[in-house]
Amino acid sequence: MLAIKDLKKYYGKVRAVDGVNIEIPEKSIFAFIGPNGAGKTTTIKILATLLLPDEGEVKIGGIDLVKEPKKIKKLIGYIPDTPFLYEKLTGREFLQFVSELFYIDRKTFKRRLSYLDDYLAFGDWIDNLVESYSHGMKQRVAIASSLIHDPYLLLIDEPMVGLDPLSAKRVKDLFKDFATGGKIVFLSTHTLSLAEDIADMVGVINRGKLIYRGNPEELTSRKRENLEEIFLKMIAEQT
Ligand SMILES: Nc1ncnc2c1ncn2[C@@H]1O[C@H](COP(=O)(O)OP(=O)(O)OP(=O)(O)O)[C@@H](O)[C@H]1O
Ligand SMILES: [Mg+2]
Repeated sequence: MLAIKDLKKYYGKVRAVDGVNIEIPEKSIFAFIGPNGAGKTTTIKILATLLLPDEGEVKIGGIDLVKEPKKIKKLIGYIPDTPFLYEKLTGREFLQFVSELFYIDRKTFKRRLSYLDDYLAFGDWIDNLVESYSHGMKQRVAIASSLIHDPYLLLIDEPMVGLDPLSAKRVKDLFKDFATGGKIVFLSTHTLSLAEDIADMVGVINRGKLIYRGNPEELTSRKRENLEEIFLKMIAEQT
């Protein structure tokens, strides 16, 4: 379970995250949607232990994020909105490097890489230098690097940027399979169809406040509209 309680983060007068409450059970995919500047990245960075909250409490698998950041780091995989990869390593070398940071043995590394390759379809590119990669290939390697240590919670800020439809489909399948194994996926997206497609739960954030939380089918079937129409109305009502 990921439990976020009354989370707050201010930048001077800007209330980037302003009292967010979310509980996400295992085996589920949560999609965080909201306009630019709503507080999605700030929330994800707090969950990734890169920013300290000003107020509130976060527990991941029962472990307190502020009190035990080292334990939390092992539990999470994080893909920022602009991932960083070493250009002078090959994809395989980079993934091996990351797995060594987590003390993963060679055999386990090979097994996990083969599992990830089933979805991410690296092909021969995995042994070419990162500097030669297309945007989509970099993104796939970044996704693999965040899953190579088999985390409990996967955090991804805008996972589908730059992916072609086939790669996007495979990544969705990977996230579903990952969640099914007792894990949690927490993603932010502007692609509302993605949220509709794979999320068990969506959260709409605007100006640091969660203005809707629930399952996407409920939301769309009750109003007989698609998520895009509902989203635009919700945001308009607030401005
Ligand atoms: N380091 C910072 N210093 C000052 N203000 C910041 C900082 N980072 C974010 N903010 C502000 O906090 C608010 C939330 O930003 P955040 O990046 O979390 O939004 P977001 O929902 O991820 O937006 P987007 O969809 O554009 O990625 C914005 O008003 C932003 O300008
Ligand atoms: Mg952002």
